[in-house]
Amino acid sequence: MEQLIETERLIIRHLMPTDEKGMFLMDTNAAVHKYLGNHPLKTLEEVRKVIQFVRQQYTDLGIGRWAVLEKETNEFVGWTGFKYMQDMVNKHVDHYDFGYRLRQEFWGKGYATESALAALKYGITTLRLKDIYAMTDIDNLASRHVLEKIGFTLVEIFKYDAEPTWREPDAPTTWYEYKQ
Ligand SMILES: CC(C)(COP(=O)(O)OP(=O)(O)OC[C@H]1O[C@@H](n2cnc3c(N)ncnc32)[C@H](O)[C@@H]1OP(=O)(O)O)[C@@H](O)C(=O)NCCC(=O)NCCS
Repeated sequence: MEQLIETERLIIRHLMPTDEKGMFLMDTNAAVHKYLGNHPLKTLEEVRKVIQFVRQQYTDLGIGRWAVLEKETNEFVGWTGFKYMQDMVNKHVDHYDFGYRLRQEFWGKGYATESALAALKYGITTLRLKDIYAMTDIDNLASRHVLEKIGFTLVEIFKYDAEPTWREPDAPTTWYEYKQ
């Protein structure tokens, strides 16, 4: 099942078509999308396209966001990890964006931190990735806290200037760097 990493409570593996139910529960929830441009998904078809897009990135680029599963229940918790950025954002291109998104019922358990820390370590030590950055809405304090806990440094606040996928144009956005 394409497992990559095991932590104390979680499994991290490639995202699979069978994750569609968990992804649907996560990405149709307005609370999850509060700091992501407020455009939750609506249909299973949209969710399937996202999963297919990520799996195509594994093939084309060798990397993409990874699924996080709870060991105890085998439930889909969310995703974490790297996305290779080919479009310019905040004057940067061809770098790795680090991010995560969890189903709301799994918030507040330390899972975002546990999975992000393990994924970051795997990216650096096993995949030897360089040029790692992260972005968040300026008000997304939980996400910013996770980034800072795992070692990212805030570089600047910029106005979002790339494809308006998860941000509105010009939205104040934090720019973090992982300095190795
Ligand atoms: C961001 C997200 C992954 C965090 O998940 P989580 O389960 O709360 O994360 P964790 O439990 O590992 O850690 C969160 C930390 O932030 C802290 N925190 C939570 N809400 C906070 C707030 N409003 N202000 C400051 N700190 C906050 C928690 O106390 C915890 O820190 P601690 O372990 O030192 O106590 C989750 O909220 C999510 O999926 N949100 C929707 C998607 C999203 O915004 N992704 C990030 C896009 S950049």
